[in-house]
Order: sequence, then structure tokens, then C-alpha cells
Amino acid sequence: MNAASFSALAEFLHARSGIVLTPDKAYLVETRLAPLMRREGCADLGALVAKVKAALSGPIADEVVELMTTNETLFFRDGKPFEHLRQQVLPKLAAARGPRGVIRVWSAACSTGQEAFSVAMTALEIAPALAGCRVEILGTDLSREVLRRAETGRFSQFEVQRGLPITMLTKYFRKDGSEWVVKDEVRALVSFREWNLLRPPQPLGRFDVVLLRNVLIYFDQPTKTRVLENVASVLAKDGVLYLGGAETVLGISSRFAPLDGARSAYALV
Ligand SMILES: C[S@@+](CC[C@H](N)C(=O)[O-])C[C@H]1O[C@@H](n2cnc3c(N)ncnc32)[C@H](O)[C@@H]1O
Repeated sequence: MNAASFSALAEFLHARSGIVLTPDKAYLVETRLAPLMRREGCADLGALVAKVKAALSGPIADEVVELMTTNETLFFRDGKPFEHLRQQVLPKLAAARGPRGVIRVWSAACSTGQEAFSVAMTALEIAPALAGCRVEILGTDLSREVLRRAETGRFSQFEVQRGLPITMLTKYFRKDGSEWVVKDEVRALVSFREWNLLRPPQPLGRFDVVLLRNVLIYFDQPTKTRVLENVASVLAKDGVLYLGGAETVLGISSRFAPLDGARSAYALV
């Protein structure tokens, strides 16, 4: 692969999404972009990069960004954050917001929606403890393709077997052919919207809980700092931020401090 084309692609991807492509990811570029290159009649990566540069906000450029995102996700990923939400954070926020209040949750970088629906099921499980306080969940992602899938609330047998307890599956999903569909009571709590984490998030409103999980790992340090700053700017004073198991704010942002006893949970300083 031509080094100049690779670095032009890396530069474009970084500017558009914050995602860092290091030279050891050449195999990833080849496997993910090969079908698009064939379809577009590009003889090599240089030809594809030329098309991207010719129309930076065109459909091919968008498709390249989509193809370079990693959308791996599963229901109740890592378990602990959802237990923490159920046992501590949601009941505490509900008490603070009151019976007619709303708890707004942002599943930032939600991929195909498993994280957002896991929060919805968690809230439904403890509805009596929330004493009338509503929970609204917004799932956002850069990729339109994953959002299109999330919107359907449809999951394959393979997907529901990853992380979803069988009791939750039978309670909150119905079978439709070979797929499982989230029931209306779960779907009603969740909405989805395209959103790039590099943008100032004020148009999304204020949030009580933000799940920013398994996405910072794709960014370089300045981008991590910028995204955490964006999140801090819309998090309520008593709100909670969850990061992925391999992510931290330490050395990256001074806006957050770890919450006692809860790995991956942070509060505003
Ligand atoms: C590995 S998935 C994480 C999904 C989920 N949060 C979880 O932990 O299971 C990472 C997601 O981040 C999204 N993403 C990457 N860069 C982004 C950006 N700049 N803005 C919004 N989403 C982004 C990708 O499209 C992908 O769906």
C-alpha cells in the first residue's frame, strides 16, 4: 500500500471522526475498503483517496468513514456499570428529580443500540424505585448505518445471545421470524440521532448520565480531551459518566474524578 495514500486517508479520517489510523492498521484499511474500491472502480487506495478529496462531504467520503468505524458492541457490556446504574445512580437521580422529573441518559457512540436498550431495560426493571420519574435515553453515533439498525430494534439470535440474560430476552423481546424485536415499552424510552462526538453537544441538551464507552480508545490524546470536555459541558452537576473498561480520564481530563467504589464511573469535579 502506498504510504502517501495511507497517510492522506489517515489525515482525512482523523479530521472527520477523531479516529487514529496508525501504519500497523494497513490490513484493516485493505479489508474494509476493498469492496468499496472494487465498486467504485478504484485500482488502488490512491484512486479512492482522490475521489474522497474531490468531494469531502460527498457520499463516498461518508462511506469511507463508516467503513473505518469499529461497531463491536453487546447487551449489558461489562455488567458492572448497569448494576451500578440500577442499584445506585438511577434511584438517587430519581429521588433528586422527583416524581414528575426526567432522567436523561446519553449513550454516546451507541453503535447498533444494545447499550441504549440495556439502559432502558435496567430502568424498567426498577420502575417502582423510580417513583414516577421518567427515563429518556438518547443513542447517538457517527455511523448512519449502525443507527439505521438501532432504530429497527431488531437483533439476530447471535446478538441476543451476547450479554442478554434469558429472563430479559423473554420479558422484553418478541420473536419475529429469525430475529428478536425489542418490545414497545423498551423502544419507547429510546431515541436515536446521528451525532459526531467532535461537535459541541449543546444542541442535544443536558444529561444526567452519559455512557461514553469503548470509543475513546480510537482517539488520540487531544481528541480524548476535547470529547471529554464536550461531555462535561452537558453533564448535570450530580450526573455520572461511564467509560469503557480500558478507558480512563486520568492524565486526559481534569473535569472528572472517579466515583468511589465504581470502576469506570466518574463524576464532575
Ligand atoms: C466499539 S463501538 C462502542 C459501542 C458501545 N458504546 C459499547 O461500548 O458497546 C464504537 C462506536 O463509536 C462510533 N464512533 C467513532 N467515532 C465517533 C465519533 N467521532 N462520533 C460519534 N461516534 C463515533 C463508531 O461508529 C462505533 O459505533
